Amino acid sequence: MTKLQIRQFEKRDTDSVIRLANEYAFFDGPVNEADLKITHAFPEGFIVAEEDKRVIGVIYGYFREIPTAVLENWGVSKVATIELLVVNPEYGEQGIGTLLLEKLIDVFKRAGTDMIGLTCPVKAKQARRLYERLGFKVSAYHMRKKLD
Ligand SMILES: CC(C)(COP(=O)(O)OP(=O)(O)OC[C@H]1O[C@@H](n2cnc3c(N)ncnc32)[C@H](O)[C@@H]1OP(=O)(O)O)[C@@H](O)C(=O)NCCC(=O)NCCS
Repeated sequence: MTKLQIRQFEKRDTDSVIRLANEYAFFDGPVNEADLKITHAFPEGFIVAEEDKRVIGVIYGYFREIPTAVLENWGVSKVATIELLVVNPEYGEQGIGTLLLEKLIDVFKRAGTDMIGLTCPVKAKQARRLYERLGFKVSAYHMRKKLD
């Protein structure tokens, strides 16, 4: 068994990342590279966990364009978002999700980010606990109504 490695995403990881997202993340339907907004614009923010030569977790975030007036209102200057966080449940509850999130927060801090936002599905209870444990607070509710 090889040691857990937390490293930057490489192109060869693309299929594993899409598979992890489709099998275990709470998206509304099947997702592909474009749906995941994988832009490669901020490679440092795209991090995978690898064990036994297998990609078992991923976190991915990048910067958001926010109007200056909004930034001033929030009292921040650079905002990032987390698009994807998923760990294969076979490897769950061993601290890998926490390691990935801590690593990305560190990368964002070094890049001058002073706020991170994200959307967390209601179903993703474990993710919410993880985010709250690392200091995230709920600031809005995303609401839907089906019209017939
Ligand atoms: C959310 C998710 C990424 C967490 O990954 P994970 O690797 O299991 O996360 P961790 O192991 O760091 O933490 C999970 C729990 O295990 C616990 N844990 C961590 N290390 C542990 C250990 N060695 N022994 C026992 N428990 C441990 C943590 O305290 C945490 O407990 P809590 O949920 O009661 O707070 C994973 O559950 C997942 O992929 N969920 C589906 C996708 C998803 O919801 N993505 C986020 C959408 S926004």
